[in-house]
Amino acid sequence: MYKKFLPIISIVLILAFVLASCAPKAPAASQKVEVFSWWTGGGEAAGLDAMIKIFKAENPKVEFINAAVAGGAGTNARAVLATRLQANDPPDSWQGHAGQELIGTYVAAGQIEPLNFLYEKEGWLKVMPETLIPLISKDGNIYSVPVNIHRANVLWYNPTVLKENNVAVPTTVDEWLAALETLKAAGVEVPLALGEQWTTMHLFETVLLGTLGPEKYNGLWDGTTAWDSAEVTTAIENYVKLLRYTNSDATSLTWQDASQLVITGKAAFNVMGDWAEGYFKELGKTPETDFGWAPVPGTVGTFQFLSDSFTLATNAPNRDNAIAWLTLCGSKAGQDAFNPVKGSIPARSDGDKSLYDVYLQSAMADWASNTVVGSLTHGVVANDSWKSEIDTALGLFLGTKDVPAFQTALVAACKASGPCK
Ligand code: GAL
Repeated sequence: MYKKFLPIISIVLILAFVLASCAPKAPAASQKVEVFSWWTGGGEAAGLDAMIKIFKAENPKVEFINAAVAGGAGTNARAVLATRLQANDPPDSWQGHAGQELIGTYVAAGQIEPLNFLYEKEGWLKVMPETLIPLISKDGNIYSVPVNIHRANVLWYNPTVLKENNVAVPTTVDEWLAALETLKAAGVEVPLALGEQWTTMHLFETVLLGTLGPEKYNGLWDGTTAWDSAEVTTAIENYVKLLRYTNSDATSLTWQDASQLVITGKAAFNVMGDWAEGYFKELGKTPETDFGWAPVPGTVGTFQFLSDSFTLATNAPNRDNAIAWLTLCGSKAGQDAFNPVKGSIPARSDGDKSLYDVYLQSAMADWASNTVVGSLTHGVVANDSWKSEIDTALGLFLGTKDVPAFQTALVAACKASGPCK
């Protein structure tokens, strides 16, 4: 009697077959790639998403695992990464800053693979800046793929607030202090917006640069400028004066919260890297109208840079797919999709300028013509242990404002982990 049901059984079977063959197939287990960064939102994620979109189109069978951990400047992410690396559980590729962060940490520990083969295959040595290659190399091996150039020494300002108070954009530290005083006296709530601790280090390094000038600033990192010199004392004193004009709730604000104060007009100024520009644009704001920019006072003619780059883990679980990701990171298409949104300029010299807005075009011109120096907060000039000793000293100083004690701690940090004898 089952014969009576045969047509129904056949239809069910055919349907099941059709459904099974049309259903989206989960990528095979090996077809994935895990990429680790700290770009999770507030102007940070959009650039990454633009690259992920291209990656997915080019590698439809590969599952992209976005392992980003939130927190500006990677303060949280880098701690998570360190734990994973210690447990021998590396992501396939992770974000690392060109310079001492890369060389002193991941290369020193043998955690990443050299990428010379990819540079040769893709012809990257012809298009990546000559100044950058030594910062990502050791003993002739190149260890990462730079996706951008960010500028650290940017003074963002609210043009309306300055205009209403008859304040010109300052170019020297003294002009800046005078402007802040005028704004404070006029009742501007926050003359200079500040955020959580890493943003205070960011401000400090730009004030060091603005007070010492590029040559002596560079000397701090190679041992030719003394940390106990009178210029460093003046820089710390300038820093203390500037802190008087900052918001009292700084420690509880992210960099986005702090820079947004400029957009809303609560604050007049904020010092932040140009990822702030990516954020301002994500908020729908227009350069020159809703926000203005200038080099941090005292640093005109100097471009204090950092570069986000991606690595290949030693024993990467998904090596081939990681190489596909790195190939995209170094490509013109990848960089021209990422950077206009991220608020950075391409590391490659052949980016399509027409894709970049007026701020970014000005950054391109300055990168090409200014004196270039590296950032402390973002991994270029000091290894992790030196940076963390400076950070501890700075944390104490923010409470005590004891200039001689801070300077003594900076001297000790250079002796313990830097080039000072
Ligand atoms: C920097 C990083 C930038 C940006 C910023 C704020 O260290 O290089 O790309 O993400 O932190 O989180």
